Amino acid sequence: MESRQERAHGSPALRVENVKLNIIEVDGLTKKFGDLVAVDHVSFQVKRKEIFGFLGPNGAGKTTTIRMLCTLTRPTEGSAAVAGHDIVREADEVREHVGLVSEKMIMYDRLTAYENLKLFGKLYGIPSKLLEERIDELLGLVHMSKWRNHQIGTFSSGMRQRINLIRGLIHLPEVLFLDEPTLGLDPQSALEVREFIGRINDEQETSIILTTHMMLEADMLCDRVGIIDYGRIVALDTPTELKTQVSGSRATVLEFDIPNLSQEMILKIEALDCTEKLSQETPTQLKVHVKGQDAFDNIVGAVRSDGGRIAAVRNLDPTLEDVFLSLTGHEVRDAVTEKVTTTEHRHDMGSQRRRARVR
Ligand SMILES: Nc1ncnc2c1ncn2[C@@H]1O[C@H](COP(=O)(O)OP(=O)(O)OP(=O)(O)O)[C@@H](O)[C@H]1O
Ligand SMILES: [Mg+2]
Repeated sequence: MESRQERAHGSPALRVENVKLNIIEVDGLTKKFGDLVAVDHVSFQVKRKEIFGFLGPNGAGKTTTIRMLCTLTRPTEGSAAVAGHDIVREADEVREHVGLVSEKMIMYDRLTAYENLKLFGKLYGIPSKLLEERIDELLGLVHMSKWRNHQIGTFSSGMRQRINLIRGLIHLPEVLFLDEPTLGLDPQSALEVREFIGRINDEQETSIILTTHMMLEADMLCDRVGIIDYGRIVALDTPTELKTQVSGSRATVLEFDIPNLSQEMILKIEALDCTEKLSQETPTQLKVHVKGQDAFDNIVGAVRSDGGRIAAVRNLDPTLEDVFLSLTGHEVRDAVTEKVTTTEHRHDMGSQRRRARVR
């Protein structure tokens, strides 16, 4: 499919076909700030109705990529099309099709939720009656109807973020960009916001591109994830595929602590259909590669039938954190603390890592 899309750029007929398939097409997009290469020749496609996540540490180039795609900053090199329109030559058309939610957006504390949304909607030239209806519908969607006439200044950060989210939807964009949508929210509000993102994607069929440096968020929400580090996409796939690449298998790995582990128990577990591989780590510890929904129950049954007692079970499946570590040689958190280093230092480290990755 990739090569077909690449070939298609030259042919108008195929380009139309591409727009149907991919809401975003990015080719060699680059942004330099002086000597700093913030986004370094990235190429990717986002499919229609997909939730696509950019995962990467602070300073990786996530916001800059999104800002280019929203036409807020011009690329230094490369090209991109959003909803079939070139982000440089057809910037006005692109803006009609996209909504952006970022923490930098200004809201007026003294105005009510409704007034803030109305002000924003007017900027898009939406007729008053239609705008009123849409605001009420969107407030309902985020369970904020009863706060319609309250000043934004009195809201908690979670409530504020919900208003911010629907503000990005006021002109019913085909594509919604969310820059760190749950940053700074408490776990409950973050959960609600994620649930809302899933719902608008589902119900309104909005294509969503979000950035995050939270592995779990990317894993939970995104159909596909692009891992970005030092301005480059180092991997792009579904969370499941990314994790499979690291573990080398689709099997789930469970580790059991069984204080009275016996040879009979091991043989019984080995004979189960769900067991792919088994290894004894210590006299009381078993690592089992399993497949299928009933694997856990079956193993517990086999152990108990021989009088075994299970003291603990751990799921050793790789996380996206492991994927990041294996691809970049460093942890997302390491890179966060590195943000305080100078630009020059950052480049040094970046090239060292890239060399290390190429091997
Ligand atoms: N307007 C600008 N002028 C100069 N440098 C910039 C500018 N905007 C971003 N940068 C630099 O470009 C790099 C990428 O920044 P960007 O904001 O895209 O990262 P990010 O992945 O969004 O990070 P975060 O997770 O912290 O939001 C950083 O080193 C940043 O300092
Ligand atoms: Mg950012």
